[in-house]
Amino acid sequence: MLPSAKLNKTTAGNMRFEPLGQKMFTRRNWLLRCSILINVGVILYVGSHVMIGGGNNFSSGGSFLLQEQQPAALQAASQPPQPIAKNGNELTQLEEKTQSPLNAVENEAAPVPPADPGEPPAQPQQIEDVAKDPVGEIFDAVQVPNANVNGNGNRNAANVEMNSTQADGYIVTGDEKELEERVRALLNCYDHEYEQQTLQRGDFWVLENYVQADHGKLKCHETITYTTHADYTFLDNLVPLLERWNAPVSIAMHAPGTDFQPTLDAIRYLRDCVAGNNLVRAFATFHVYFSTKHIPKSIPKAKDALKTGYNCSLPAPYFNVSSGHLYKAQKKLLYPVNVGRNIARDAALTHFILASDIELYPNPGLVKKFLEMIARNELYLHRAAPRVFPLSIFEVDGNSPVPRDKTELQEFLRTGKAIPFHKRVCASCHGVPKSKEWMSANETDELSVFHIGKRTGYYVHWEPIYIGTNADPHYDERLSWEGKSDKMTQGYALCVLDYEFHILDNAFLVHKPGIKVLKKDNRRAMLAGKTNQLIRKIIYPELKIMYGTRKGCAV
Ligand SMILES: *[C@@H]1O[C@H](CO)[C@@H](O)[C@H](O)[C@H]1NC(C)=O
Ligand SMILES: *[C@@H]1O[C@H](CO)[C@@H](O)[C@H](O)[C@H]1NC(C)=O
Ligand SMILES: *[C@@H]1O[C@H](CO)[C@@H](O)[C@H](O)[C@H]1NC(C)=O
Ligand SMILES: *[C@@H]1O[C@H](CO)[C@@H](O)[C@H](O)[C@H]1NC(C)=O
Repeated sequence: MLPSAKLNKTTAGNMRFEPLGQKMFTRRNWLLRCSILINVGVILYVGSHVMIGGGNNFSSGGSFLLQEQQPAALQAASQPPQPIAKNGNELTQLEEKTQSPLNAVENEAAPVPPADPGEPPAQPQQIEDVAKDPVGEIFDAVQVPNANVNGNGNRNAANVEMNSTQADGYIVTGDEKELEERVRALLNCYDHEYEQQTLQRGDFWVLENYVQADHGKLKCHETITYTTHADYTFLDNLVPLLERWNAPVSIAMHAPGTDFQPTLDAIRYLRDCVAGNNLVRAFATFHVYFSTKHIPKSIPKAKDALKTGYNCSLPAPYFNVSSGHLYKAQKKLLYPVNVGRNIARDAALTHFILASDIELYPNPGLVKKFLEMIARNELYLHRAAPRVFPLSIFEVDGNSPVPRDKTELQEFLRTGKAIPFHKRVCASCHGVPKSKEWMSANETDELSVFHIGKRTGYYVHWEPIYIGTNADPHYDERLSWEGKSDKMTQGYALCVLDYEFHILDNAFLVHKPGIKVLKKDNRRAMLAGKTNQLIRKIIYPELKIMYGTRKGCAV
C-alpha cells in the first residue's frame, strides 16, 4: 500500500537533482522577488500620484512589474495556494544567513507574524516548531499517504514533531524481518556486485575489494556501510570501531611503494591475531590504492593475499610505528584523503553510507535504530529537499573510555571529560546547529531527527559527517589531507543543491580518546595556503558552473 514512486524518491534521501526541490526553490524565489517588487510597485504607484509627472518612471516600473509577475501567476495556477506568511518567513531566513551565530539562533526562534490577515494567527505550538525547524516552510508538494495534512494541503509542522509515530499509521514492532521489508519497500535501492577488481582512478591504481569481509553479498537495504580511508598506522582503530558499529566497513588503504607489505600484514594480523578478529573477518572489506608513480614491487593476487597467515607472536605491524616511517613520508607524498574516501564509498554495497574518518567511533546500536527510524517513515522524510543525517562529534580526554550512549556522554560533558569535536582547533568547521540544545536534551529511546539545519550563516564552513547515500556529491580528489579544507567543496555543493541537514538525536561520534590541541606545523600551513589558492582560483569557479550558486552558500 505504501510506496508510490514519489515516496521512494524522497525517502531514499538521494535526490541530487531533485526536480521538485528545484521547482520549489524557483517558486520560493519568485514569491520573494514578487513580494519585494509589489512593495516597490506600491511605493512607486503612491509616489507617482504624489509627485506629478512621474509617468515615465511609473510606466517602465509598471511594465517591469508585469513581466516579473507573469511567471509567478502561471506558477500559482498550477500550485496549491501558498500562504503569504511564508514570504515573511523567507525574508527573515535570508536575513539570518548573514548574521552572527547567536542572532541566527535567536532569530530562528522569533515568532514570524503572518503577513496576511486572512491567515489564522500562528499557534504557540507552531511558533515553537518554527524554532525547531527553520526550513519548515519547504513542506508540501509531495503526496503523503495517511499523513497529517491540514485543509490547505499545507502540513502542520507541529504535527510532524508531536505526532510523527502515529502519523503514518504504523509503528515498528522490532520484528527484524518486518523492519527489513519496510525499509526495502521505502528505499527501492539496487543491490551491488561484490567482486574483486583492479581499476584505475585518475593517477591511482585501485585494488577494489582486495580483502573481502566474510558477509558476502549484501542487500542494499539491510544495513549501513561505514566507509573510510587509512594508512596502516591507523588500523589500531578498526576493532574499537567495529565493536561499536557491528556492521559493514568499507576501508580504502593508501599503500604506495614499500607501505604495501606492512599494510597487507596489518590486515592479516587483524583477521588472525587480535581479540575481535571475528568482527574484522565478518565486516571489514579492504581496498588498496596507490599512485601510478609509486607502485609496490610485487602484489599478490587477491586470492593469494591471505594464503600465509600472520605469525601472531610478532607485534602488530602498526604497533609503535610513527608516521615518519611510512614510505609516503620518506617520499614526501601527500595523503590523497578524498581518493580514499571516494573509493570506499563507491565500493559500499548498501544504500546508506556513513562516510567517516576511522578514528571516529559511533555509539553502539546506531545502525538498527537508524533503519528503524527510516521504517517509521516520519513526515520529515517526505520533505522535497535532498537530505543527509549528520552526527554530532565529540572528543574525550586520553584517560576516558568512549561514552556508549547519550546519557553517558552528557555526564562526560558535565565533568569536562568530553568536549565538542575540534573545539580547540576549528570550532566552526564542526559546530553543529542547535548543538547546545542537543547536548542538554535528555536521551530518548528512539533515534530521531533533532533539528533540520542548513549549511549557511554561522555554519557556512561546516564539514559535517553524516549518514547519506552515494547520490550525494563526491569529495574532490585534488584535495589532500595535508592541505586541509578537504570536505569544504563537497559542503559547498550540498549547500547549493539545497540539502537539508537532519541532525540525529541519540546518535553521535566520538574521536579515539585524546583531545586534540593546535600544533604548529609549517609544512601543513604552507600546503593549506596552496590548497586555499587551488580552491579559490580553480575549484570554486568550477563548482559554480557545475552546481550553480545559491545565496548564503560559500566554500
Ligand atoms: C496525535 O494525533 C491524534 C489525532 O491524530 C491526537 O488525538 C493526539 O492528541 C495527538 N498527539 C499529540 C501528542 O499531539
Ligand atoms: C613467530 O615469531 C616468533 C618471534 O619472532 C619466532 O620465535 C617464531 O619462530 C615464529 N614462528 C614461526 C612459525 O615463524
Ligand atoms: C617505540 O619506538 C621507540 C623508537 O622508535 C622506542 O624507543 C620505544 O621503546 C618503543 N616503544 C615500545 C613500547 O616498544
Ligand atoms: C533529564 O534527566 C535527568 C536525569 O535523569 C532528570 O533529572 C531530568 O528531570 C530530565 N529532564 C527532563 C526535561 O526530562
